Formats: sequence, structure tokens, C-alpha cells
Amino acid sequence: AKITLRQLLDHAADGGYGVPAFNINNMEQGLAIMEAAARSDAPVIMQASRGARSYARDIMLEKMMDALVEMFPQIPVCIHQDHGNNEQTCLTAIRHGFTSVMMDGSLEADMKTPASYDYNVTITERVTRMAHWVGASVEGELGVLGSLETGEGEKEDGVGFEGKLSHDRLLTDPDQAVDFVRRTKVDALAIAMGTSHGAYKFTRKPDGEILAMHVIEEIHAKLPNTHLVMHGSSSVPEDLQELINRYGGRMRETYGVPVEEIVRGIRHGVRKVNIDTDCRMAMTAQFRKVAMEKPEEFDPRKFLTPAMDALKKLCLERYEAFGCAGQA
Ligand code: G3H
Ligand code: 13P
Ligand code: NA
Ligand code: ZN
Repeated sequence: AKITLRQLLDHAADGGYGVPAFNINNMEQGLAIMEAAARSDAPVIMQASRGARSYARDIMLEKMMDALVEMFPQIPVCIHQDHGNNEQTCLTAIRHGFTSVMMDGSLEADMKTPASYDYNVTITERVTRMAHWVGASVEGELGVLGSLETGEGEKEDGVGFEGKLSHDRLLTDPDQAVDFVRRTKVDALAIAMGTSHGAYKFTRKPDGEILAMHVIEEIHAKLPNTHLVMHGSSSVPEDLQELINRYGGRMRETYGVPVEEIVRGIRHGVRKVNIDTDCRMAMTAQFRKVAMEKPEEFDPRKFLTPAMDALKKLCLERYEAFGCAGQA
């Protein structure tokens, strides 16, 4: 059945587990995520970005989500708008069956310019008030992640966030977080603690300092009842990098967020863990493998079936690691 983010994360907090939030754009991703959840008896967060909504179209996504919920009646499913940029995005998502929205007021509506604190509070409070009228949940964000607008975390210097760590104003300020949650009444709070979106987050395996785990711990100590959200939480597994490169891809050496660091975050109030890049890599590695090993193949299903299997395996691993398995 469909449930809200608030319902799901309250349960996760009671049980001390975290829920991976996988991005979804198409049927294959939906089936893989749900089959993995059914296999491990895990609750699900499927999230669609604005890009996903324009790729698949709102009506297609809505009916597909309904179909997935109907096909897996034993699995609680939260359908979430990822990185909503304004009121319109958030309200049209709810209108199309989403049970939860992220109002990302950490950036201006162009999603490129860091926003003022006042802007963030005002727009997030407004969206939360409206969403709560109709029973939907809201995730807000405070602090600024590595850049969104450059897509794959790509920058001139080729690093994600780590080169900027001295600018600690980009990390979430714990006292401001307390004020933000009190004023906006968000159900969940995304925090900036050193990650960035995309594959190129770190040039070496990040330690607890690069990841600023102390920020999570401090915020959780001040806001023990607020569900924390980690964005940019792909682990960018080395074996997937290798597979992609073995079959003609070109990924530079890079490091993501180690699963054990996410698990540490879950011990300190992280309840929603956003993962997109790992899912993309799992599928794309299989596309490349089939394309290279079977150049005579042109049936898309022969590409998509192993890609779905690889994504399903990745989802299963995250459900298990985050303590989500058996919680549906
Ligand atoms: O945070 C961004 C997510 O990875 C979604 O990416 O906007 O390309 O769909 P997208
Ligand atoms: P990754 O790019 O690390 O998968 O992060 C996804 C994300 O934060 C979506 O909101
Ligand atoms: Na989100
Ligand atoms: Zn994100």
C-alpha cells in the first residue's frame, strides 16, 4: 500500500533502521526495486526527480506507481518528489499521487544558486503547510551539497565536494537546523555533510572527517525526533566502475560514500538514504556488457533483463545493509 514518508520514517526511527530512496524513471527500475523489496520484505521509497517526471511523463509515472503498488500489496511504498524546486513542482507531484515531496529551498528555483536562509524557510514552510492539508509529507534541505547543475558532480577540478570543505558554511549548521525544523515543520531534513551528487564525489576513500559525520551526530543530538536524510549517498562501487570500464566505458578513478559510513549515519538519526548513481551504474554496466559480448543482439529486452537483475541485486544489498530488510 502507499504510505507517506512520515509514516515510514517514524517506523524506521522506532526500529532504528534506514530506508534507501532509489530514483526511478522507468518500468525496469520500478520492477527491480519492488522485486528486491519483496524478496527482502523491505518498505520502499521510490523517488522521481523533475527530470524523471518529464522523461516518463506524470500520467505514465502515476499509473506505473499504482501498478507497482497493486502488484506488491504486502510492501509499503512511499512515492516521493526528489528535489522539488518550487511550490508548483511539489503540488503537481501530490496531485499525481506522490505521498511525499522534497521542497529543496537550499537552492533558488533555478537549482543553481545557493538560496538565502529566509528564502528557504519561507518557501519550505509554505509547501509544508499545503502538503499537510492534504496528508502528504515534506522533506526540506538545509546546507548546500556539491553542485547539482553540473550533472555528474563534474567540476573543473574534477572533485566533488572535498576541495571546498574549508567553506564550512556549506555544511548544515546544527543550531540553524533546530530553528529551521521548528519554523517549517518539515517531516524530514536533508543535511549537507560533505557529499555531492553523481559519481565523482571524492578522489580518495573518504574518512569520517571528509564526510563530516560530526555534523550528523550534532544535529541528531539537538533534534532527536527529526528524521535526517542523506543525499549523494551512492557508494560508487569499485566493481561497477571496473565492469563499466572493462566493457568500453570511461569512468575516472573515484570514490563514493562507503556503506559502513551510511550505516554509522543510520545510528545517528539518518532514516532516508538517497541513491541514484549506483543504480545507474549497475544497469549501464550490463548494457555495455551485452553490447560488447553480443554485438549481434538488438532486442532491448536482452539488455534490460540483465540490467534489471543487477539493479535488483544492488537494491537487495542496500535493504540488508540499512536494516530495512524484514521491516515491511
Ligand atoms: O539528485 C539528482 C538525482 O540523481 C536525479 O537526477 O535530475 O538527472 O533525474 P536527474
Ligand atoms: P547519488 O548521485 O549519490 O546517487 O545521490 C542521489 C541523490 O541524492 C538524489 O537526490
Ligand atoms: Na529527496
Ligand atoms: Zn539529492
